Amino acid sequence: MMIRIWPLMACLLFAVSCKSQKGTTGTPDRYNTQVDSVLALMTLEEKIGQMTLYTTDWESTGPTIRKGYQEDIRKGTCGALFNSHTVAFTRQLQDIAVKESPLGIPLLFGYDVIHGYKTIFPVPLGESCSWDLAAIEQSASIAAAEAAAAGLHWTFAPMVDISREPRWGRVMEGAGEDPFLGSLIARARVHGFQGDHFNGTDKILACVKHFAGYGAPIAGRDYNTVDMSERTFRDIYFPPYKAGIEAGARTIMTSFNDLDGIPSTGNKWLLEEVLRKENNFTGFVVTDYTSINEMVNHGYAADDKHAGELAANAGVDMDMQGAVFQRYLKESIAAGLVSEKQVDEAVRRILRIKFELGLFKDPYKFSDAQREKAVVFAPAHLQAAREIARKSIVLLKNEDKVLPIANGKKIALVGPLVADRNNLIGEWRASGEGEKSVSILDAFQERAARDGFTFTHAKGCELTGDVTTGFEEALRNAQTADIIIAVVGEKWNMSGEAKARADISLPGMQEQLIKELVATGKPVVVVLMNGRPLTIPWIAEHATAVVEAWLPGTMGGLAVADVLFGDYNPSAKLTMTFPRHVGQVPIFYNEKNTGRPFDPNNGYTSRYLDMPNTPQYPFGYGLSYTTFTYDSMMVARKDYSFSDTIIATVNIKNTGSVAGEEIVQCYVRDLVGSVTRPLKELKGFEKIKLAPGESKKVTFKLTSKDLAFYTADMTFKAEPGAFWVMVGPDSERLQKKEIRLVQ
Ligand code: GLC
Repeated sequence: MMIRIWPLMACLLFAVSCKSQKGTTGTPDRYNTQVDSVLALMTLEEKIGQMTLYTTDWESTGPTIRKGYQEDIRKGTCGALFNSHTVAFTRQLQDIAVKESPLGIPLLFGYDVIHGYKTIFPVPLGESCSWDLAAIEQSASIAAAEAAAAGLHWTFAPMVDISREPRWGRVMEGAGEDPFLGSLIARARVHGFQGDHFNGTDKILACVKHFAGYGAPIAGRDYNTVDMSERTFRDIYFPPYKAGIEAGARTIMTSFNDLDGIPSTGNKWLLEEVLRKENNFTGFVVTDYTSINEMVNHGYAADDKHAGELAANAGVDMDMQGAVFQRYLKESIAAGLVSEKQVDEAVRRILRIKFELGLFKDPYKFSDAQREKAVVFAPAHLQAAREIARKSIVLLKNEDKVLPIANGKKIALVGPLVADRNNLIGEWRASGEGEKSVSILDAFQERAARDGFTFTHAKGCELTGDVTTGFEEALRNAQTADIIIAVVGEKWNMSGEAKARADISLPGMQEQLIKELVATGKPVVVVLMNGRPLTIPWIAEHATAVVEAWLPGTMGGLAVADVLFGDYNPSAKLTMTFPRHVGQVPIFYNEKNTGRPFDPNNGYTSRYLDMPNTPQYPFGYGLSYTTFTYDSMMVARKDYSFSDTIIATVNIKNTGSVAGEEIVQCYVRDLVGSVTRPLKELKGFEKIKLAPGESKKVTFKLTSKDLAFYTADMTFKAEPGAFWVMVGPDSERLQKKEIRLVQ
């Protein structure tokens, strides 16, 4: 007998809405009555169906619903799909669920909308270098609007994994190495995706991932073991997950890795203790792609059925693509190895979110073809993508002020990424279309037609391989140029998932090409387009200028040209350290002093025989076309109680000839702790804009909470004693004042 839930639900909703509603949207108890009413109608198979998430394989087979899915949806044994988008396709799938399944429970549609749905923004690591939280939130908000217009309810983003590992390909998806900045960006991205409510049709569920510690794989190899102390986990890697939860993220994704020997997908301490008890997470937990099954490979489960029991009992609610819950959970429950109570809890969490999204009220609220046509790739979205791409571009070197390009200069554009459109949008490109991006060549041609200058273009070499036959044309063009712009980097799929590189230098013959261009004696501007920090010591030393453009998205070519010609004065700063050599990795700014800090006059100190300890470019580093001075750093006084606000000020002056933005940074150092403490930790920043000659006093306000850490007995608190408060343009050029925190 088919109980059509729709009319039943309509009555139920009417009945319940007449009663006083506890709480507001998003508070966990708001829909309890409706959820319990639906749960009471469900068979065990249907409950397990809500805990089952499948891919539609569109990415490989296009929008064809594989036979299996129609049956799963029709039987109510699959409650969510991913890689299913566009109004047409999602409506087709929703029709089956709502009109043909026994209870008509609406499907949830998810997708990896990581840095844009159709309008693609810079890769998130690039965006993070803008330090512009409003712009980052706007980027996520536009991604949500386009995704929602395309029938989607849920994105598997933001990825908030802290990483100190440039060999790891997935650094491109995150926000770099710092927990303070990473937490603020996690918050901004969750809010951009979700907003304050789901009543509208321009917001989607966020999914904070990958919980937890995924960004610290040994040797930088994806999926590899993660082994760290609980203190390091809580001080460095956990904060952005916490920030995402506090920002209201309604779903969390478990990571592939084991953490201290226990796979995240079966880690009860992580999911029940840390996530739900300590941090009051009320949403649902989805696994990563077959990560339940993979606990057998980890050697943590004997077989898939055992893995399913471990996952369910650890607190996992939804099985992504593993089909483990669907195949074995009923048997495990019958054997008393998993309680139906645990399953009911998981299903409640999932149903509650479908209510919060309004899907029971209207399963088709996101399926509006007119809205899809109007919103996706909207001109305003493209403009926003150009603007944040500009803000993400880091000026790393600019000798002789060779940039911005002066009028009348004869320009030689060289390199495999000059004319490239597809690589600009990076990995995790959702429904982005590489060929619709604006390349650097497109941007130069547009500008040349408008401003009446000419330039030459030669590819020079490919991104990979050892062919140098293209050098000749490039060098010939260079001979007649006043300035050479060399655009080099990585292929879009050299960073991202399963894209670790042991050698993080420029691939192929690119560096050799640059060496020959430099040998011409002409000024060479190197524009990097890559998804991770690269080792470029020769280029850093010999190129005239170096611009880190990352993989800048659909409008990337225009943004790069805007910076090169000075329409936008670069303001971005690195959020991940650039090593001189991969042998220095992991290398990060917030390291500790050790008992034998490097001393150039003492060989028995922490050092390399063949390399400095210092990075090529440090965390927080980035230049401008203007210059800034930092003067008169002050602290209000020396001694502070635990309830005082510590106030530090500094005067910033634009001493150059053009307006510019500066990201003023504030760090602290705890000089003596019950455990060893980092040399510096970012605790504040302010992005200011100054006209030439203009000054501004920047004030940082810190409390003892900003000085708290996990002490020797794992209590999170500040300890009395001496601290340095430091301010500066990056994590190395800092002025400091000593203060004391007194009981
Ligand atoms: C992948 C990724 C995860 C993504 C999921 C669905 O393996 O690890 O980030 O959201 O599968 O595509």
